[in-house]
Amino acid sequence: MCSIIAYASCNCNDVSSILLDSLSLLEYRGYDSVGIAVLNGSSISVRKGVGNVKDVNRKHRLEELVGSIGIGHTRWATHGSISDLNAHPHTSCDGRIAIVHNGIIDNYLELREGILKDHSFKSETDSEVIAHMLEHLLSRHKDIKDVMVALLRLLHGSYAFVALLNDGTLVGSRHNEPLIVGVVPSANSILYHYANRKKYNDVFCSSCFISSDVLAFIKYTDKAIFLSNDEFFILRPIKHGYRLSIYDAEGNKIGKQITQIAWELSSYVIDKGKYAHYTLKEIHEQEYTIARALCSKINHEFITRLIDARRVIVTGSGSSYNASLYAKHLLARVGVNIDACIASEVRYSSISIDSNDVLLAISQSGETADLLDAVRYAKSKGCKILSIVNVNTSSLVRESDYFTSINAGPEIGVAATKSFTAQLAVIYKVASLIAHENNSNYDYSIYYYDSLSSAISKGVRDIIAREHLLSSIADTIKDVNDIYVIGKGVNHIIALEGALKLKELAYIHAEAINAGELKHGPLALIDNSRSSVVIALNVKDNTYKDVINNVKEVKARGGYVIGISDCYEYKECYDVMLDLPSIYDTNERDCGFVNAISYESLAYPVYQCIPLQLLAYNIAVKKNYNPDYPRNIAKSVTVT
Ligand code: AGP
Repeated sequence: MCSIIAYASCNCNDVSSILLDSLSLLEYRGYDSVGIAVLNGSSISVRKGVGNVKDVNRKHRLEELVGSIGIGHTRWATHGSISDLNAHPHTSCDGRIAIVHNGIIDNYLELREGILKDHSFKSETDSEVIAHMLEHLLSRHKDIKDVMVALLRLLHGSYAFVALLNDGTLVGSRHNEPLIVGVVPSANSILYHYANRKKYNDVFCSSCFISSDVLAFIKYTDKAIFLSNDEFFILRPIKHGYRLSIYDAEGNKIGKQITQIAWELSSYVIDKGKYAHYTLKEIHEQEYTIARALCSKINHEFITRLIDARRVIVTGSGSSYNASLYAKHLLARVGVNIDACIASEVRYSSISIDSNDVLLAISQSGETADLLDAVRYAKSKGCKILSIVNVNTSSLVRESDYFTSINAGPEIGVAATKSFTAQLAVIYKVASLIAHENNSNYDYSIYYYDSLSSAISKGVRDIIAREHLLSSIADTIKDVNDIYVIGKGVNHIIALEGALKLKELAYIHAEAINAGELKHGPLALIDNSRSSVVIALNVKDNTYKDVINNVKEVKARGGYVIGISDCYEYKECYDVMLDLPSIYDTNERDCGFVNAISYESLAYPVYQCIPLQLLAYNIAVKKNYNPDYPRNIAKSVTVT
């Protein structure tokens, strides 16, 4: 999962700074290496290296490249080590073609050892074959359109790529990886027509972006064209601008609609502001994002489809899978026949799927390849697709029958934080709406959600105000080898999420253990060596007493226990207690509404999750790790 960007402009000769600016916004997709290629006259210059955008630019002075058309890339290594040679862009033997690629070319070895055996390759990557294939085909076909048709027939795998040719043409295509065109209209061309949603065979523009994510160009234009699978584009320079043409895989020109990107996204300021890291900013934003998610519009059909389904299979990856477990927990309570399945397991699971079922897909990015694969598999079985997603311009939204947005705004930090709690809030609302639909005695009133969201926002503010406590706890435990997060019922799901944050941010082996299971084996891991720590999620719900007994079992073996709780009854059982705001403080909460799903079912998971996010963040900072861009992973995993 890399990021690609291309930019062409007839009004600017300094495209490298625009490319670098966009790449820094896309860095969450991969940050092993960075590179750009810029055309000046008829020669293409490439500068690239290992590291993030800032470091590589400082070392290789990418911004010094002059020209009005260029391509760029940030890499998340899949094929070939992290090295300067394997960094993109890659070029053809004659240097007249440069390419950037996201995805995996499955048959690259075959092409290298077959058609391209006389070509000299500089890298170990699969991607480089695209440059050489274009060179090979251009020597056989005059028209670049025919070259692209032939190329798409020969490339197998998942890909989004853009190629820069030294005659100033940009070409590219996608197959199961996102590729979006951002058009900046030339003065007299588009605005008029655009209004009537007309489909365009050719788009004339003064400048044009092509990228993996609208984030890369949203501050320059909110007019986007989403390429569908196996479509390709050709951007040709013309007098005073560019002509963009889009074709299907057979080379037939097709009309494409221009989509107006939601103003919310275009007005969202993508910077850290006063915060040291995006992750900390996004943790603090939960004071508002949970409330916003609770006010998300949920289409009535979305609810009735869940109610009428023979069975619902809820799925996701990573944090979104943990949110899927929460969905299973809540929707089962309001009578939905529901199973949860990890996205990468859906096609292998014993759960048989057919047209009577609904797949509920949960994702922040909407681009996770494992999830899109599960969606396409379920679709092939006639299943309806419902999705809960954060990025409304994503492939998942376009492949869903119905979707609900969590409205958390762009999440740049690789670790899911605000998106996870916003997913919980939307799931809570969906369950409440289902209960109301099934039994009108259960209230459904926007006033309820308003009071709920202000109660939760207050609680989140109180927890964030306790960050100094978490910072000192982080000091105490930052060098342990193992952390076991225990909890029961829905709290075990939050234990899973907490353990994931500690792994991906603090690089500590962390495991969620169902508290009741401790005595059936994991207790053997506990001793008084202080090389491990137990974090007990122990709120005052029906699991409180049981978990206190489990805490005592750990203490009896000399274990070190941190309690996260809103109850002081057995405070002395923990070595340290992080006290949570009582959910009963907020008396305006119920306002006399009868809701099938108790307020605690959302408040407790949220209140326990945020301290775990802050703990993982603080440990990462104390260990000088970059919390925004943890090693070896990236924000949206677009390879299976
Ligand atoms: C969570 O912090 C990670 N970033 C990762 O596990 C993530 O949740 C997973 O890759 C799914 O991403 P998605 O929600 O964008 O589909």
